[in-house]
Amino acid sequence: MPIESVPEVKLGILGGGQLARMSVMAAQRMGVSVISLDKDKNSPAAQVGPAIFGSIHDAIDISTVMQKCEFITFENEFIKAEVLEEACRIASFDPKNIVPGINTLRTIQDKLLQRQAYQEFGVPTPLAVSADQAETIDFPCVLKARYGGYDGKGTKYVNTKAEYDELRPLWEPGGWLAEELVAFDDEIAVMVVARKDGSCDTFPAMITRQRNYVCDLVYPCPSPALSAKAQQVAIDAVKAVNGIGLFGVELFLQNDGEITVNEIAPRPHNTGHYTLDWGGMSQFEAHVLSVLGWFHSVETGIPTCMANILGIDEAQSFENALSEVSKHHPRARFHWYGKADAIPGRKMGHLNVSGDGDICGEAENARDAFYAAWR
Ligand SMILES: Nc1ncnc2c1ncn2[C@@H]1O[C@H](COP(=O)(O)OP(=O)(O)OP(=O)(O)O)[C@@H](O)[C@H]1O
Ligand SMILES: [Mg+2]
Repeated sequence: MPIESVPEVKLGILGGGQLARMSVMAAQRMGVSVISLDKDKNSPAAQVGPAIFGSIHDAIDISTVMQKCEFITFENEFIKAEVLEEACRIASFDPKNIVPGINTLRTIQDKLLQRQAYQEFGVPTPLAVSADQAETIDFPCVLKARYGGYDGKGTKYVNTKAEYDELRPLWEPGGWLAEELVAFDDEIAVMVVARKDGSCDTFPAMITRQRNYVCDLVYPCPSPALSAKAQQVAIDAVKAVNGIGLFGVELFLQNDGEITVNEIAPRPHNTGHYTLDWGGMSQFEAHVLSVLGWFHSVETGIPTCMANILGIDEAQSFENALSEVSKHHPRARFHWYGKADAIPGRKMGHLNVSGDGDICGEAENARDAFYAAWR
């Protein structure tokens, strides 16, 4: 390669939210040069490392990052695959240096294509059709936006044909799917790392408790047999989308005992934040290493519970809240994302409690103390 075309930066991350921020911090710790892209000059990632200001949905802005970087990854699945392809053309960037790959992203970013990929690969997943075919599934069912949903936005439970008809203005223009309503006892998440040769390693299976459709608490799955089964289904799901890199796989533990795939995120995932304090490899290190093709295996750590901290009405200084938590809950390890506004429900930070004893109770108590002092 001619000297003048050697990229200045090893890794470019498209996006500047908390997942980019924690990935930047992991890269920096390992001495990997890294840059992020976001239109907000004070994005969570821009606060901790070099950043380019521009839109993750603009091929020209993405190509500017590509021209500086050897490898590219992204922090959400919403960047259109076609926009990435266009950016590669503009920057003469080798698409093979985007991890996870563009075709995997294309499948995952459409929740209907994603479900079809699992079905074709024989991975258990709820039956899904386009929303205008909902009657073939029958009611109750779930209507979902095929693109762009997060934190339950774009998920609607439909009990009857009458409710379905009422929602017609929403789904009729297109872009929605209908799927079976799953009766589940728990939701489980597994982080999977797929190496470039297609072999996979996993982080532990975690139970994820949701509140108002947002992940609330994450803790280790207590059953070794169930964990092993969940890890295998998660690997199969990643193989079904030809995944390379790090993936968060969301699973249902159905009340008939079966484990089915809900969805995959092709990136670090909220349910993997516990790895920042478990003493083993963090999901962010695994992410950086896997994008660069350097990932070997997951070094495991000790049991850890993670509690999300969401924005609340009339939030006051988070520093007061942090000092309260530190005084009374020394085992709670605190992570803050540096977002400007504590909009109710928005993910603002999280805390982890690791080790023996009632780690879930302690995490919840520490979070309650945080909320009480934050008001
Ligand atoms: N088919 C289903 N049956 C029952 N509940 C479901 C179904 N699909 C989704 N849910 C519930 O809604 C939640 C959000 O759905 P889903 O994960 O598909 O959307 P999302 O908005 O992309 O989620 P997130 O960003 O929180 O991961 C799930 O975690 C689960 O609790
Ligand atoms: Mg989800």
